[in-house]
Amino acid sequence: MNDNFAHRAADWDQPSKVEMTKKFVNALLNNIEIKSHWKAFEVGAGTGLVGMQIADKVDKVVFEDTSEAMLEVLKQKPKDEKKVEIVHGEVFEYVNQDIDFVFSCMAFHHIPDIEKSLKHLYQITNPEAIVAVGDIRTEDGSFHSFEPIPHKGFDTEELAAQFDAAGFKVLTSQTYNVLKRERTPGVYTDYEQFMLIAKRK
Ligand SMILES: C[S@@+](CC[C@H](N)C(=O)[O-])C[C@H]1O[C@@H](n2cnc3c(N)ncnc32)[C@H](O)[C@@H]1O
Repeated sequence: MNDNFAHRAADWDQPSKVEMTKKFVNALLNNIEIKSHWKAFEVGAGTGLVGMQIADKVDKVVFEDTSEAMLEVLKQKPKDEKKVEIVHGEVFEYVNQDIDFVFSCMAFHHIPDIEKSLKHLYQITNPEAIVAVGDIRTEDGSFHSFEPIPHKGFDTEELAAQFDAAGFKVLTSQTYNVLKRERTPGVYTDYEQFMLIAKRK
């Protein structure tokens, strides 16, 4: 399995990344009443910047990621091990059907087959499970101009249709932040971050 994040893992937890994940978690908390008995599953958890903010609010978080290097940083962090499970690989590696809450921040645009992944999320979730995905809206390819990427952001209407087809009713889809990035010297581009929240039918 290619680890495209191997060279970024060691210095991933910079203030800008922490800030980005706080905005995602704030949007989550504004929209979802998280229950303490929930078992949560984070898609593309990376070094755990998001999941570690959620872990004390739920029973357990399963941190899933394809990057061994990113997960290695997470493994080194002090945490309550009873509340944490780490899965290395794509979502398909997790096969129990016991998840109440799925969340994912800025990882979906790295996932090659969204339809197949959503169908798998349906298989591992309990009825009425909540899924919250944060990512960027359709962009011109400049956000990741330095590397090939499966998705240049998402059209949220198309993504909502994919959720619906996989068995999830979309509850809301909203912009929660705008990232300003200088990808070309002197040229600033706005990338809108959306959060889509759905409930398993
Ligand atoms: C932009 S980082 C976001 C990490 C973390 N969610 C955060 O907000 O700090 C994207 C993450 O998605 C992971 N990733 C890439 N392809 C993936 C896949 N097919 N399935 C799951 N995770 C994947 C990467 O290894 C990386 O950790």
